[in-house]
Amino acid sequence: MNIDYDPVAPFYDRLAALVFGKSQVNAQKWLLQFIKPESRVLIVGGGSGWILEEIAVEHQQGLHIVYVEKSAKMLALSQQRSCGRNLVEFVHSDISNFKSEQSFDAVFTGFLFDNFPQQLAGEVFNSLSAQLLPGGLWLYADFEQNSNTKTVHKLMLKAMYWLFRVLCKVETSQLPHMNSSFEKGYETLKQRRFYSGFITSRAYRKVLN
Ligand SMILES: C[S@@+](CC[C@H](N)C(=O)[O-])C[C@H]1O[C@@H](n2cnc3c(N)ncnc32)[C@H](O)[C@@H]1O
Repeated sequence: MNIDYDPVAPFYDRLAALVFGKSQVNAQKWLLQFIKPESRVLIVGGGSGWILEEIAVEHQQGLHIVYVEKSAKMLALSQQRSCGRNLVEFVHSDISNFKSEQSFDAVFTGFLFDNFPQQLAGEVFNSLSAQLLPGGLWLYADFEQNSNTKTVHKLMLKAMYWLFRVLCKVETSQLPHMNSSFEKGYETLKQRRFYSGFITSRAYRKVLN
């Protein structure tokens, strides 16, 4: 996969805020309430790392975070963040090539899966799911399209895919269907919609075996 967020790393956060205001940030911040103290957390595609500072507001210490980012420039920005006294392991890798020897209490994916075509999304889902402990939490935020999606949001999605194809070599042009992936083996603890329903955040729990 050729996807590369390096060219937009210096301004990605400002661009996202310009289009969505605080919605993308709030959608991910809302998920942080579910992280339990002393957890081992896998964050995938955390971008510039602002989420690490938000986590440190809620949990000053005690978390072991593994932070996997494909973009070297995004990772470099993340490494400059204040993470409190949490232990953060930064990993420069495509998530497709990442496999932890130790499982996680929580997996956090914010606006990651919209980058993937359906098949790859399924593969990444299966790999991450295998690394999440039974009873563990999957904290998920992304765009969602359904029969109620407003025309303006459909157009925005098209424009975003065009822009990110040009800037970051994102190869897909439609959202993968992720709900069906979570149907088996996961229960929804809580969900909330943002940006008039265009963005959804869900806290899932992996069912016990
Ligand atoms: C749309 S940005 C979202 C960043 C952040 N979650 C936020 O909302 O500010 C997607 C991020 O996922 C990363 N990413 C995309 N594909 C990836 C992959 N296969 N493995 C790891 N990271 C990936 C990109 O480098 C980028 O930083």
